[in-house]
Amino acid sequence: MLNNLSRPKMSVGIIGLGYVGLSMAVCLASRDIRVRGYDIDNEKMKKFKCGESYIVEESLEELMGIGIKIGALTAVEFIYDVVNFSDIIFICVGTPSRKDGTINLDYIFKAAQDIGGVLKNIDGYKLIVTKSTVTPGTAEEIIKIIEKESSKKHGVDFGVCSNPEFLREGSAVADFSDPDKIVIGASSEEEAAPLIELYKNFYGKLPNIILTNYANAELIKYANNAFLATKISFINEIALLCEKIPGADVNVIRDGLYADARIGPSFLNAGIGYGGSCFGKDLKALIGFYSKYNRAPYLLRSTEAANDRSAATPVAIIAGDIKKLGPRDSKKRKIAVLGLAFKPGTDDVRDSSALKIINGLRDIGFKNISVHDPVAMENARKVLGNLVKYEYCYEDALWGADWAVIATDWNEYIKIEPAAFIKLMNTPNVFDGRRIYNPKKMKDYGVNYHATGYGRY
Ligand code: UDX
Repeated sequence: MLNNLSRPKMSVGIIGLGYVGLSMAVCLASRDIRVRGYDIDNEKMKKFKCGESYIVEESLEELMGIGIKIGALTAVEFIYDVVNFSDIIFICVGTPSRKDGTINLDYIFKAAQDIGGVLKNIDGYKLIVTKSTVTPGTAEEIIKIIEKESSKKHGVDFGVCSNPEFLREGSAVADFSDPDKIVIGASSEEEAAPLIELYKNFYGKLPNIILTNYANAELIKYANNAFLATKISFINEIALLCEKIPGADVNVIRDGLYADARIGPSFLNAGIGYGGSCFGKDLKALIGFYSKYNRAPYLLRSTEAANDRSAATPVAIIAGDIKKLGPRDSKKRKIAVLGLAFKPGTDDVRDSSALKIINGLRDIGFKNISVHDPVAMENARKVLGNLVKYEYCYEDALWGADWAVIATDWNEYIKIEPAAFIKLMNTPNVFDGRRIYNPKKMKDYGVNYHATGYGRY
């Protein structure tokens, strides 16, 4: 335990127990920091109270149990209790996209209103911290709302900080415990002091703290995600060319790039595109934000377009190839999609490339699609309903199929031997959208192997 018990303990409130709020609440409480969590969703609250995690996240449930057992983690029914009993209140509510892609900050402003309503009736300084991803100008809006609702004064009765999260799904606990950086936007150093103190309590030795103003903190988050998304689209564009050049292999090119210290050794794995709850949404919000200032985000729009194309590529290849298979109605041919989650280690299917591919195949008439995922099938079912057949082992999905698409690089798929494709499939055509197999081995066994960024001989 890194918690320095000689320091006075702070009490933390968390509004919004989604992926970010829950991960953070559990991590803090597991090191004996008092955390009260609140969410409007009763189902989540019920599970939270029982120590049951409602997201698939490594070590989360175990740490949740520790937090509850030591009395550091509690679910509270009223926002009043979160605000009244906490020194620092984190806003972790969702910031979804509107239909036009711009950000919807309604939940943030509602939380600010609720906090203001409580502040009106209580004494004592509170620090309100936004963890959710928000566009520049939001911190000032929050201040205005709280001042209006509470008749209290920013800087005197309450403070506001912007402290965006950079957690990755599937490794949220590890990322929270050992972050590359902590970005804090505040109107003064004093305003950020309680938050930095909280992090001192949690980490012992502070990670790299970037202390700046509100606008910079809010923009760092967007720039961070937009840059990572652009890296992926960049390598996917190189991959597209590789596929046309015999002998070219995007993975070798990637390693060449990694060797250049100016580029750095990460996030250049080519595939069928990025997905998840952040990159697509944040890119859209950032693009929408440019229009507010009448500026054109050329590069960001291309990042988005390139990502859409990455998911469309296997659809086009399968559609073109399946016609050649023979007289049987090509649209009746079975296609297996292995992997539905947007990446391994999570059951999240939001913006998943697998779902885009399935929809793309269905749009052009392929209806016989079997799918498998080790953990994300229930979430996928909520989106796809009975449009596909769900198989509880990947062998059944592959059985009798004419094409297989590897959409998520789960470990159990990495272990599939070429012989299994030959044995199970009607025709062993494999599109490896995550580059998990050895092309030569596949070819030697007689698998018709297509892979992102691999130029076949
Ligand atoms: C991301 C950011 O990393 C995190 O900082 C932010 O807070 C939330 O968004 P996450 O969405 O959990 O985290 O996933 P991440 O691991 O970043 O991957 C996003 C997507 O990019 C996945 O679909 C993944 O398969 C894809 N990806 C990632 C690639 O295609 N190639 C890569 O090299 C890396």
